[in-house]
Amino acid sequence: MTHDWSGGLTSISDLDRTDVLKLFKLVDNCIKGKYEKIGLGRVIGLLFFEPSTRTRLSFEVAAHKIGAYPLVVHDPSTLSISKGESMEDTLRILGNYCDILILRHKDPKTIRKAIRYAGVPVINAGSGSVEHPTQSLIDIYTVYKFRGNPDGLTFGIMGDLKHSRAVHSLIMLLTKFDNVKLKLISPKGLELDEPFRKSIESEIVLEEISDIRSIISELDVLYIVRLQKERFKENYEKYISSYSISPEILKKCKEDLLILAPLPRTWELPPSIDSLPQAKYFQQASFGVPVRMAILISILRAL
Ligand code: CP
Repeated sequence: MTHDWSGGLTSISDLDRTDVLKLFKLVDNCIKGKYEKIGLGRVIGLLFFEPSTRTRLSFEVAAHKIGAYPLVVHDPSTLSISKGESMEDTLRILGNYCDILILRHKDPKTIRKAIRYAGVPVINAGSGSVEHPTQSLIDIYTVYKFRGNPDGLTFGIMGDLKHSRAVHSLIMLLTKFDNVKLKLISPKGLELDEPFRKSIESEIVLEEISDIRSIISELDVLYIVRLQKERFKENYEKYISSYSISPEILKKCKEDLLILAPLPRTWELPPSIDSLPQAKYFQQASFGVPVRMAILISILRAL
């Protein structure tokens, strides 16, 4: 069933393959400058309780480009939550002031509260370690730009798979395509959680790999995520530098491999990779603006 954009975008599971490919056509048009200023007179609320460079700023730029006014809470500690106001009331008030609310919060339940209390379409800009739906659309749009849709491709996903919301949304999105193979590479202790793994293993072919060198030549896409140290209660230090890519490891990769990353990066993706033709992560980040324009346009068209 086609997604009803009037509800916003709170999980990538809301979209089917047709919705995604339709959105990508709209992204193509946004890149070509062929889009309507549908945001004129509209306000886009941005409420981020966790740090962000790419997601917040690209949504802000996207809002400006379609003619909307971005209402940005730059520092959530200045909100009246610090005087004891509840999250529910804060969301009600923000919802009164904007036409779409974009929310990032460490507690995944806050997205549910926003859907319930804001009274406007909500976009999930990152909910704890659970989901980051707009990031996964940027990831697969990048694949679509360079290789067409991802049917039949082999993806290596490397790093802190347990805590990465970008990884969870990416895998959920990949289950909507045909014959995708996943090779998961992570240090012991940072594998996908068992419940999440169980929820997707009947929908996609996946294999856990201990050494990237053994499969690097098979990959069409290598997706690398940093250690999400902010998600650990303790003891993240033992994982520092426990995995990384290098020009030496990549010597045996396909010429047309796509190296992608949601960014930010730390030690896992060294700058010595940046000049390789396979390194596409900065172009990927640049697609954040047109992908998010297309999402905002889709929602505003549905209102
Ligand atoms: N990829 C991503 O979500 O980056 P930011 O945390 O900088 O928004």
